[in-house]
Amino acid sequence: MARNSRIVRRAGRLGVVAAAIVVAACMQLGAQNDPQAAVNAAFNKFKTLKEGKNADYIPALAKVDPNLFGIALVTTDGKVYSAGDLTTEVSIQSISKVFTMAQVIQEQGPEAIEKRIGVDATGARFNSIIAIEAVRNVVGSGAPEMNALVNPGAISATSMVTGANADAVWAKIIGFHNDFTGRQLKVLQDVYKSESDSNQRNQAIGALMFAYGYIKTDWRQAVDLYTRQCSIGVNAKDLATMAATLAARGKNPVTGKQVMDPAKVPPVLAVMATAGLYDDSGKWLYHTGLPAKSGVGGGIIAVSPGKFGIAVISPPLDDAGNSVRAQRAIAEISNALNGNPLAGGR
Ligand code: DON
Repeated sequence: MARNSRIVRRAGRLGVVAAAIVVAACMQLGAQNDPQAAVNAAFNKFKTLKEGKNADYIPALAKVDPNLFGIALVTTDGKVYSAGDLTTEVSIQSISKVFTMAQVIQEQGPEAIEKRIGVDATGARFNSIIAIEAVRNVVGSGAPEMNALVNPGAISATSMVTGANADAVWAKIIGFHNDFTGRQLKVLQDVYKSESDSNQRNQAIGALMFAYGYIKTDWRQAVDLYTRQCSIGVNAKDLATMAATLAARGKNPVTGKQVMDPAKVPPVLAVMATAGLYDDSGKWLYHTGLPAKSGVGGGIIAVSPGKFGIAVISPPLDDAGNSVRAQRAIAEISNALNGNPLAGGR
């Protein structure tokens, strides 16, 4: 009798385990076929994650709500999937570097960026001054070994956008960002003021880049415009649409506007792949295969070419300056949707 009831209890336990496996497998399968299921699953998994800390070297960023969490995924045929906060704007910060670099590539060709700034990872932090000295050492023996996604290269890229005066250059920079989001963006004035009051390090970087010949125009203007572009306000859907435009060979899949020549998109993605998450770019690529870019405002964008663009906003950052929750959520969603381009287009 006792033996029989043990057998029944054991069978019951096995039944529960089997049911749990079936439910997990179905969820996994659901997530694979259903971007909304993948987005929801990642949102629920990471909504209580508290690791990381807001950037505070720009005082306005320390005041942003650390609980803010929004996910958006836009497919190359213009479908939008989302979870969490989609309306709150954060400053775009370093994610803008992708689009100013893309603007220079669009207007002057990929070789303009390669020759003036370089397309190699520095292995250093995003605002490293030692990296500038290292670049200086290789000048004369080939192209500079830097890239347009670290501050010195980004300030130089901004200086390369042509225009009769600062206002004309700015109109082009924000106009290009508007084309990628499909809406009129604005500068978050509190962030712009806070960053302008505290950007002495970037001014030093701009002055050095001018002294060493990488910036050939007014470096003060370049630093100011760079600070402005970093202060543009964006929400998660804006960022995902920007990423999706790169995933769709330069055509904004929501507005239908061809924003860049298709042939000029791969060089942009290449620099994102090698340097988009700074000194953690290798780890990121190893786990996801996705060209991506982070910003200290808490956003990260990632591109699965031909498939989708994805963005997450969550302000707390890790030591490299990349949003903790955004990295986890994007990796989880992309892997569920077979987004890794290095996996061979399943
Ligand atoms: O130049 C700065 O310090 C900021 N405006 C941008 C830095 C940034 O977003 C680095 N990204 N993770």
